[in-house]
Amino acid sequence: MDARAILARLRKGDSLSADHYGWFARGLADGTVSDAQAGAFAMAICKSPIGRDGRVSLTHAMRDSGQVLDWDLPGPVLDKHSTGGVGDTVSLPLAPALAACGAYVPMLSGRGLGHTGGTLDKMEAIPGYRAILGNAELARVVRDVGCAIVGASGEIAPADKRLYAVRDVTSTVESIDLITASILSKKLSEGLDGLVLDVKTGSGAFMEDPADALALAKSLVDTAQGAGCRCTALLTDMSQPLAPSAGNALEVIEAMEILTGAGGSDRLRRLVLALGGELLALGGLVANAAEGEAKIDSAFTSGAAAEVFGRMVATLGGPTDFTARWRDRLPSAPVLVEIRPKRPGYIASIDTRALGEAVVHLGGGRLVQSDKVDPAVGLSAIAGIGDRVDPEVPLARIHARDEDSARAAAEVLHDATRVSEAPVAPPDLIQERIA
Ligand code: URA
Repeated sequence: MDARAILARLRKGDSLSADHYGWFARGLADGTVSDAQAGAFAMAICKSPIGRDGRVSLTHAMRDSGQVLDWDLPGPVLDKHSTGGVGDTVSLPLAPALAACGAYVPMLSGRGLGHTGGTLDKMEAIPGYRAILGNAELARVVRDVGCAIVGASGEIAPADKRLYAVRDVTSTVESIDLITASILSKKLSEGLDGLVLDVKTGSGAFMEDPADALALAKSLVDTAQGAGCRCTALLTDMSQPLAPSAGNALEVIEAMEILTGAGGSDRLRRLVLALGGELLALGGLVANAAEGEAKIDSAFTSGAAAEVFGRMVATLGGPTDFTARWRDRLPSAPVLVEIRPKRPGYIASIDTRALGEAVVHLGGGRLVQSDKVDPAVGLSAIAGIGDRVDPEVPLARIHARDEDSARAAAEVLHDATRVSEAPVAPPDLIQERIA
């Protein structure tokens, strides 16, 4: 077998076998396949979709190009994947809640990408927290604590890493087949029994258009099931930040409010319950998602989820008293500014991507890969769609390192938010379930 023969089949419209995909993925990982060949492969799939069998084979091939975790645990191994957004801190309360309900969660997470926040950056806002573990330590923490929210250290799906970089510069990121295999090859490397997908749609989402997001959600569910992993997806709203805070330490605060019952965002809590309910049902720990939601809810009210989170933080080098003293332990920014609306009214729409970009420019994300993230900066008290704003109720609070960056963020915030005189109905949070 060689790359030219595989590419010739794709050019002629012939399907590839699992062996072809396996050969190509190994070649991507070990360098046998050149960048030119990888680009041709991506473009061919972009132009001629490969169908469910092709997606399953490509997913397996890219997964098997690296390490695949293998578990021997007394409960199901579960995880969630989100296509990313702003103010989306679901992972932080969800992982310990699932663990408190009897699941095991090796939550391999990423850093901020573009305008979207990254779970690892949020966890690293907790002083001392070590987010990068070797596989042996990851296995130990998952077994002992029940969950680990960490980054992948070993070689997880190296074929995807290479192909993704090539897609980025050959205008082939948009292919649903390639996105599906890319996301699932990494997630299925975790050795999962069940996976729930949170596919976002709206102004802050990777796929803004609801029809595109739905097509991706269906492709992901169909392919994961074909690859032997129980899977459902929720199509959820990202036309506004999920929780009213965006920025690393500020989002940890949102998560701690849910975990400790200190209030917190209703939208965030509802989505954590819905995704957790799906996962407990997929893992066979409850009969259906509604029962699962109730079980996750009681993990919050009983304090069991907070206790697991505290143990995970302490085990991974964070403060041993974090669940009791999180308000004192998290960093805060020196400049705090409340942004008032130019006129009173109701929030009609939000350019959520612009808000995410504002957080990046405050220092909460990276403009170039080598940038160091400032954990303290960001936005809080962001008014949501349908909320009334007036001189007493701000559009948001800006947490900045200095006055200049706060001023720049204020301008973005005004431009990104449309206020109407008439009341506005907020969008549905959960728009569709795909099973
Ligand atoms: N996220 C991924 O991991 N892969 C893609 O192709 C797109 C988004």
